[in-house]
Amino acid sequence: MSRILITGGSSYLGQHLVPLAAASHIVHHTYHQNQPNLPAAGSQLDIRDETAVSTLITTFQPDIIIHLAGSNRGSDMASVIRLGASSVVWAAREVGARLIHLSTDSIFAGDAAPYAETAVPTPVNAYGRAKADAEAIVQQHANSVIVRTSLIYGLAQMDHGTRWMAEALAQGQPVTLFNNQIRNPVWVNSLVHALLELAHHRYTGILNVAGRQVLSRADFALKLLDYWQVQPRDTLTIAPSDGSWPLNCELDLQRATAVLQTPLPGVDEVLAMNVRIHSA
Ligand SMILES: NC(=O)c1ccc[n+]([C@@H]2O[C@H](COP(=O)([O-])OP(=O)(O)OC[C@H]3O[C@@H](n4cnc5c(N)ncnc54)[C@H](OP(=O)(O)O)[C@@H]3O)[C@@H](O)[C@H]2O)c1
Repeated sequence: MSRILITGGSSYLGQHLVPLAAASHIVHHTYHQNQPNLPAAGSQLDIRDETAVSTLITTFQPDIIIHLAGSNRGSDMASVIRLGASSVVWAAREVGARLIHLSTDSIFAGDAAPYAETAVPTPVNAYGRAKADAEAIVQQHANSVIVRTSLIYGLAQMDHGTRWMAEALAQGQPVTLFNNQIRNPVWVNSLVHALLELAHHRYTGILNVAGRQVLSRADFALKLLDYWQVQPRDTLTIAPSDGSWPLNCELDLQRATAVLQTPLPGVDEVLAMNVRIHSA
């Protein structure tokens, strides 16, 4: 059985990936401030602490590292993303592990979509700059895959964006849905299967892994608010964004479709499948 280290087991993505990975691998996951209840061994780790990372890696001896820790939230976001990438690259080299790194469509300015794997990052904000720097660091490790993905959502647990909207609407706070930001959101179930497929694949380099339906953030948000039956919506408005986040980040999925067996359904397909499951 392969040994997989998953950083950020407590992340939204990690809470879906760890149980699936643990069914057929020896898994160790890490969390930082929020200890999750997951069916695999886990330990607290600050990914910026090189000594702690070194101790964990040399003890666990992973064959594969899937690096999820770090997101677009928190005041220390940029340092966690950059130093985390350095730590895991160093660790992967130390034990000869394959590295799967999570990146984002937000490394692009959003003015030249669709973006293929050959597209050079053109970040417009701090998160995009940090994730673009992390990609450059990960590229120093030959046996690695940089997975560029889009908005992650699931139908069993509310994603961060929908939760934020639901809480704000419940409190009567204004929520604006941007109708000029274009994305291809990815179903978390597809993404975790793709990550495990890539863990055992020969592919190296950048790979776009997202859903095949391209839509505005407003359309996407409304579909999920309907799915989760979020009410009231009196304080909801739909408008163009101010440009602090890139506008059109559509990822070109031609290479992913050729490389992966994992299907990458769009939002409507996922919602339709779920309706069938629940009405069966
Ligand atoms: N969510 C999306 O729509 C989306 C889109 C594109 C790409 N991505 C990428 O996918 C990955 C997972 O995203 P997510 O939204 O699922 O993440 P998330 O739920 O926001 O969780 C962030 C994770 O980073 C961990 N973390 C924060 N500071 C840390 C530190 N100093 N040391 C170690 N771990 C630390 C957190 O641990 P604690 O909670 O235990 O503190 C948590 O596990 C990220 O790399 C993100 O950039 C996400």
